[in-house]
Amino acid sequence: MIDMTRRKFLVTLGVLGGSAAITSLAAHADDAPPATAPVVYWANVGMAKDFPVGEVTRTVYPKEFGGAVAYVRRDSEKIVSGVSAKCTHRGCTVNYVASDKGFRCPCHGATYSAAGERLSGPARGPLPQLQAKIDDKGIVWLQSLIPPTS
Ligand code: FES
Repeated sequence: MIDMTRRKFLVTLGVLGGSAAITSLAAHADDAPPATAPVVYWANVGMAKDFPVGEVTRTVYPKEFGGAVAYVRRDSEKIVSGVSAKCTHRGCTVNYVASDKGFRCPCHGATYSAAGERLSGPARGPLPQLQAKIDDKGIVWLQSLIPPTS
Protein backbone atom coordinates (compact mmCIF):
# COMPACT_ATOMS: atom_id res chain seq x y z
CA MET A 1 0.00 0.00 0.00
CA ILE A 2 1.19 3.49 -0.79
CA ASP A 3 1.86 5.63 2.25
CA MET A 4 0.81 9.18 1.46
CA THR A 5 -0.04 12.06 3.77
CA ARG A 6 -3.04 14.23 3.00
CA ARG A 7 -0.74 17.15 2.15
CA LYS A 8 1.40 15.06 -0.21
CA PHE A 9 -1.75 13.73 -1.85
CA LEU A 10 -3.08 17.23 -2.50
CA VAL A 11 0.27 18.45 -3.88
CA THR A 12 0.42 15.46 -6.24
CA LEU A 13 -3.16 16.09 -7.33
CA GLY A 14 -2.34 19.76 -8.03
CA VAL A 15 0.72 18.87 -10.13
CA LEU A 16 -1.22 16.32 -12.15
CA GLY A 17 -4.15 18.72 -12.64
CA GLY A 18 -1.84 21.54 -13.69
CA SER A 19 0.01 19.43 -16.23
CA ALA A 20 -3.31 18.15 -17.61
CA ALA A 21 -4.49 21.74 -18.02
CA ILE A 22 -1.27 22.74 -19.77
CA THR A 23 -1.53 19.70 -22.07
CA SER A 24 -5.14 20.64 -22.81
CA LEU A 25 -4.22 24.27 -23.58
CA ALA A 26 -1.38 23.19 -25.86
CA ALA A 27 -3.72 20.89 -27.76
CA HIS A 28 -6.24 23.70 -28.24
CA ALA A 29 -3.52 26.18 -29.25
CA ASP A 30 -2.83 23.95 -32.26
CA ASP A 31 -6.55 24.01 -33.15
CA ALA A 32 -6.90 27.80 -32.88
CA PRO A 33 -7.61 29.56 -36.18
CA PRO A 34 -4.84 31.89 -37.37
CA ALA A 35 -5.18 35.51 -36.27
CA THR A 36 -6.69 37.69 -38.97
CA ALA A 37 -6.78 41.43 -39.38
CA PRO A 38 -10.15 43.03 -38.63
CA VAL A 39 -12.29 43.68 -41.68
CA VAL A 40 -12.60 47.34 -42.67
CA TYR A 41 -15.51 48.35 -44.89
CA TRP A 42 -14.55 51.19 -47.25
CA ALA A 43 -17.13 53.49 -48.80
CA ASN A 44 -16.47 55.81 -51.72
CA VAL A 45 -17.64 59.22 -50.48
CA GLY A 46 -16.47 61.40 -53.36
CA MET A 47 -13.54 63.06 -55.00
CA ALA A 48 -10.69 64.71 -53.10
CA LYS A 49 -11.36 68.05 -54.85
CA ASP A 50 -14.66 68.19 -52.93
CA PHE A 51 -12.83 67.96 -49.57
CA PRO A 52 -10.74 71.14 -49.29
CA VAL A 53 -7.43 70.95 -47.45
CA GLY A 54 -7.68 72.40 -43.94
CA GLU A 55 -11.43 71.94 -43.68
CA VAL A 56 -13.93 69.56 -42.15
CA THR A 57 -16.47 68.53 -44.78
CA ARG A 58 -19.84 66.88 -44.30
CA THR A 59 -20.48 63.78 -46.37
CA VAL A 60 -23.13 61.11 -46.67
CA TYR A 61 -22.44 57.41 -47.06
CA PRO A 62 -23.76 55.75 -50.22
CA LYS A 63 -27.13 54.07 -49.84
CA GLU A 64 -25.62 50.58 -49.58
CA PHE A 65 -23.77 51.77 -46.45
CA GLY A 66 -26.92 53.18 -44.86
CA GLY A 67 -26.75 56.80 -45.97
CA ALA A 68 -25.59 58.14 -42.59
CA VAL A 69 -23.81 61.46 -42.22
CA ALA A 70 -20.09 61.59 -41.42
CA TYR A 71 -17.35 64.19 -41.61
CA VAL A 72 -13.99 64.09 -43.36
CA ARG A 73 -11.13 66.22 -42.08
CA ARG A 74 -8.46 66.86 -44.69
CA ASP A 75 -5.19 67.81 -43.07
CA SER A 76 -3.12 67.85 -46.28
CA GLU A 77 -3.22 66.73 -49.92
CA LYS A 78 -2.96 63.07 -48.90
CA ILE A 79 -3.86 62.96 -45.19
CA VAL A 80 -7.51 62.59 -44.32
CA SER A 81 -9.44 61.26 -41.36
CA GLY A 82 -13.06 60.98 -40.46
CA VAL A 83 -15.55 60.98 -37.64
CA SER A 84 -19.06 59.67 -37.43
CA ALA A 85 -21.74 62.34 -37.03
CA LYS A 86 -23.65 60.17 -34.58
CA CYS A 87 -23.73 61.86 -31.17
CA THR A 88 -22.64 59.55 -28.36
CA HIS A 89 -25.48 60.73 -26.14
CA ARG A 90 -28.59 59.51 -27.94
CA GLY A 91 -27.51 59.29 -31.54
CA CYS A 92 -28.64 62.59 -33.07
CA THR A 93 -26.64 63.85 -36.05
CA VAL A 94 -24.14 66.50 -35.02
CA ASN A 95 -23.35 69.56 -37.13
CA TYR A 96 -19.93 71.01 -37.76
CA VAL A 97 -19.76 74.68 -36.77
CA ALA A 98 -16.77 76.21 -38.56
CA SER A 99 -16.74 79.35 -36.37
CA ASP A 100 -16.42 77.12 -33.26
CA LYS A 101 -14.03 74.73 -35.02
CA GLY A 102 -16.07 71.89 -33.58
CA PHE A 103 -19.26 69.89 -33.62
CA ARG A 104 -22.52 70.71 -31.88
CA CYS A 105 -25.42 68.37 -31.30
CA PRO A 106 -28.81 70.00 -31.99
CA CYS A 107 -30.68 67.70 -29.62
CA HIS A 108 -29.21 68.35 -26.16
CA GLY A 109 -26.24 70.62 -26.83
CA ALA A 110 -23.23 68.32 -26.59
CA THR A 111 -20.11 69.80 -28.13
CA TYR A 112 -17.05 68.13 -29.62
CA SER A 113 -13.73 69.39 -30.97
CA ALA A 114 -12.95 69.24 -34.69
CA ALA A 115 -11.18 65.93 -33.98
CA GLY A 116 -14.36 64.61 -32.35
CA GLU A 117 -13.26 64.78 -28.71
CA ARG A 118 -16.09 65.39 -26.25
CA LEU A 119 -15.96 68.94 -24.88
CA SER A 120 -19.24 69.48 -23.03
CA GLY A 121 -22.79 68.33 -22.60
CA PRO A 122 -24.31 64.93 -22.03
CA ALA A 123 -22.30 63.04 -24.65
CA ARG A 124 -20.81 59.82 -23.30
CA GLY A 125 -17.54 59.98 -25.19
CA PRO A 126 -15.85 61.15 -28.36
CA LEU A 127 -17.41 60.82 -31.79
CA PRO A 128 -16.44 57.47 -33.34
CA GLN A 129 -13.19 57.84 -35.29
CA LEU A 130 -13.15 56.61 -38.88
CA GLN A 131 -10.22 55.74 -41.10
CA ALA A 132 -10.05 57.62 -44.39
CA LYS A 133 -7.77 57.58 -47.40
CA ILE A 134 -7.34 59.07 -50.85
CA ASP A 135 -6.43 56.68 -53.63
CA ASP A 136 -4.37 57.31 -56.78
CA LYS A 137 -7.48 58.33 -58.71
CA GLY A 138 -8.36 61.00 -56.15
CA ILE A 139 -11.27 59.09 -54.65
CA VAL A 140 -11.87 59.57 -50.93
CA TRP A 141 -12.63 56.34 -49.10
CA LEU A 142 -14.17 56.44 -45.66
CA GLN A 143 -14.42 53.58 -43.22
CA SER A 144 -17.95 52.43 -42.61
CA LEU A 145 -18.86 50.95 -39.26
CA ILE A 146 -21.45 48.76 -40.97
CA PRO A 147 -21.00 46.39 -43.92
CA PRO A 148 -22.61 47.21 -47.27
CA THR A 149 -26.00 45.66 -47.94
CA SER A 150 -25.02 44.28 -51.35
FE1 FES B 1 -26.59 64.65 -28.77
FE2 FES B 1 -28.25 64.31 -26.77
S1 FES B 1 -28.25 63.27 -28.66
S2 FES B 1 -26.59 65.69 -26.90
